[in-house]
Amino acid sequence: MRKKNIVLTGFGAVGREFIHLLREKSEIIKENYNLELRLVAVGGRDGFICSDEGLNIDILSEAEPGSKSLADYAHDFRMSLTNSYGKADVLVEATPTDVESGEPGFTNIITAFSNRMDVVTISKGALVARYDTVFEVAKANKVRLKYSGATAAALPTKDIGEISLAGSEIVGIEGILNGTTNYILTRMHEEGLSFEEALRTAQQKGIAETNSDLDVKGIDSACKILLLSNDLLGTRYSLKDLSIQGIDRLTKEQMAESKRRGTKFKLLAKAYKQDGKVHINIAPAEIGPGHMLAAVDGTNKGIVFHTDTMGAVCAFGGSSSPRGAAAAALKDLINLYRDN
Ligand SMILES: NC(=O)c1ccc[n+]([C@@H]2O[C@H](COP(=O)([O-])OP(=O)(O)OC[C@H]3O[C@@H](n4cnc5c(N)ncnc54)[C@H](OP(=O)(O)O)[C@@H]3O)[C@@H](O)[C@H]2O)c1
Repeated sequence: MRKKNIVLTGFGAVGREFIHLLREKSEIIKENYNLELRLVAVGGRDGFICSDEGLNIDILSEAEPGSKSLADYAHDFRMSLTNSYGKADVLVEATPTDVESGEPGFTNIITAFSNRMDVVTISKGALVARYDTVFEVAKANKVRLKYSGATAAALPTKDIGEISLAGSEIVGIEGILNGTTNYILTRMHEEGLSFEEALRTAQQKGIAETNSDLDVKGIDSACKILLLSNDLLGTRYSLKDLSIQGIDRLTKEQMAESKRRGTKFKLLAKAYKQDGKVHINIAPAEIGPGHMLAAVDGTNKGIVFHTDTMGAVCAFGGSSSPRGAAAAALKDLINLYRDN
């Protein structure tokens, strides 16, 4: 049995859900992949709880998400919160995303690489802000990085491009990559709500955050298509190279007009090759019923790859949720260490 020790940074909604999945899936992972995953440290805002023998995942998966629960755990198990963790094989990074500084994810990831650990990141900040540095440090330390959680999580995107389309040239990618905006647009389309009304509904249901700017202004979608383009289309762009327009200026009248025309507005993130260059833009676009992404409604997401040899290949689903994001990280871990 292959044994891998895990450190998790960020005990929020996704981090706690990740521990939940470790508990729920550990037997099946042992059986199917000959892999034993053990959680040896969890870091919050005020420090780490650590145990070489493995932390108690029954207790952690039932605790309230948030750094305070780590302090409570430390108190209950008579340990101190520490500034660092011991020896481990892999970091799962789930702290908040800051697309400008890349922190705190950047420091967490670089520290793990320097300790010769692989990394599975769910947060996007480090990759969006400092893509080249992250990969250079990984290479220098001969370790690996996976980041499905940062590129639409439960919707497979990067894996399709890398594995399933190997040998094909990807000439363009278009995606509905943000579940929150897709939910808002669906409510506006189906119920004739204004943007503000639909946003409020999404906030009441916990689908949109109180500060929803990253989603509704198109930044989250931009981060995802940026990472996919840098990874699959060979660009080295940053956010400033992209044309980004959100959904916050769409009016009820525009929505009603498009409904009359038999089309729907979707926030489309596109990266496509033209005249020897890759162009990336994120903007609301009207799509007709024949479009491959026309059926992607509510919190679902979708992606189409246009290729030279396999035609257009589409995936959709992967509804946004902390459980889906945690499951994407678990998938990355299994794919890093599986031996079959
Ligand atoms: N939620 C989703 O569905 C989803 C989907 C895909 C990707 N993601 C990404 O996953 C990451 C986590 O999202 P989330 O929804 O779990 O956020 P969250 O609920 O806000 O949790 C983030 C956690 O990180 C902790 N934290 C803050 N600074 C830290 C530091 N310096 N060191 C260690 N921990 C620190 C926070 O501590 P406090 O408790 O003290 O605030 C909080 O517990 C984000 O980067 C997000 O973009 C989320």
